[in-house]
Amino acid sequence: MKNTITLHDLSFEKFITKTNVQHAVNGVAVRLNEDYRGKCPVFLTVLNGAFLFSSELIKKFDHDCELSFIKVASYEGTQQSDEIHTVMGAEPSLKGRDVIVVEDIVDSGNTVETIIKILKDEEVASFTIATLLYKPEAYKKPYKIDYIGLEVPNDFVVGYGLDYNGLGRNLTSIYKLKKSTMTNLVLFGPPGAGKGTQAEVLKEKYNLVHISTGDLFRYHNKNNTELGKIAATYSDKGLLAPDDLTNKMLAEEVSRNSDANGFIFDGYPRTEDQADFLSKLLKEKNTSVNAMVALEVDDEVLVKRLLERGKTSGRPDDADEEVVRNRIKVYYAETAILKDYYEKQNKYHGVDGVGTVSEITDRLSKVIDTL
Ligand code: IMP
Ligand code: MG
Repeated sequence: MKNTITLHDLSFEKFITKTNVQHAVNGVAVRLNEDYRGKCPVFLTVLNGAFLFSSELIKKFDHDCELSFIKVASYEGTQQSDEIHTVMGAEPSLKGRDVIVVEDIVDSGNTVETIIKILKDEEVASFTIATLLYKPEAYKKPYKIDYIGLEVPNDFVVGYGLDYNGLGRNLTSIYKLKKSTMTNLVLFGPPGAGKGTQAEVLKEKYNLVHISTGDLFRYHNKNNTELGKIAATYSDKGLLAPDDLTNKMLAEEVSRNSDANGFIFDGYPRTEDQADFLSKLLKEKNTSVNAMVALEVDDEVLVKRLLERGKTSGRPDDADEEVVRNRIKVYYAETAILKDYYEKQNKYHGVDGVGTVSEITDRLSKVIDTL
């Protein structure tokens, strides 16, 4: 079988072979056969993930037993959520029975906790927990996990019943999410700092996809897309687009480039909410923002540059010194929060933005090469 597989937008590499999965199942079965001699337990399989493990386990169980199923769900994509969504109750009643809870994987322990509460309410005679996989680093609950097939690190895994958004359950080996090798940069710089020029150079040099939210809005506007129409209802009234809309455009663009080496985000994030959104979005792709790189240029130099540019560019907002100074002020007021945000994560890198294009690229590269 292949060593690397793709499910939806993510790559996984082989982690536990089919043979080793079988060993793990056998190990649990041997212990259950010993411990449940003379009893007639109910195997309570936690759907959907545990169906494969439980069917193998039951085939190896030598004594009388009965089956029941329960369904709870706490995962969305590769991210654990604290809420357990669906519950399909166990039938028939488990009252007075010896119950073996069969799980595919015990992660945070939220599911196990929910099930234990149900078992106590049902007044079972006894219960044990049998799981194929166990993530000790993620487990936060006090309950004993009685039978463990294999301990695994705190990585997202699929196969042998476990899924990523519905796919991967039929794999007979277990696969682990591949670590990302993406480089994701948030590029900042006041107007006139040469951000656009550097974005073009860095994009080529590091083979990154440049996403400018300014360009995105212009694209959606020009092509009158659904999002463009919504954007127009705000801009027509002279209002700023809400975060939600900008986030949607950005998420769409990121997933359109699912095979990218990384991204240069330009003009985004602008607010803390957007920064949180970006962090969540990239986390779903098992990656993150590596750095915020900001071109630092003295205000007076910026004013001079912009006024100079205004003489030839024809841009009215470059022609008037008052307007230019105000734009620079607005930039600092707006981005101070984000500088803080990334500084707290040790991801803020200020780079001297005065010099020739290649001098500045060299300074930026020094930062990027250490990421
Ligand atoms: P817990 O409630 O955090 O212990 O998570 C248990 C449930 O989350 C399991 O039954 C799985 O359905 C799901 N889960 C946890 N970790 C993984 C994983 O790495 N891959 C796929 N599903 C997982
Ligand atoms: Mg499950």
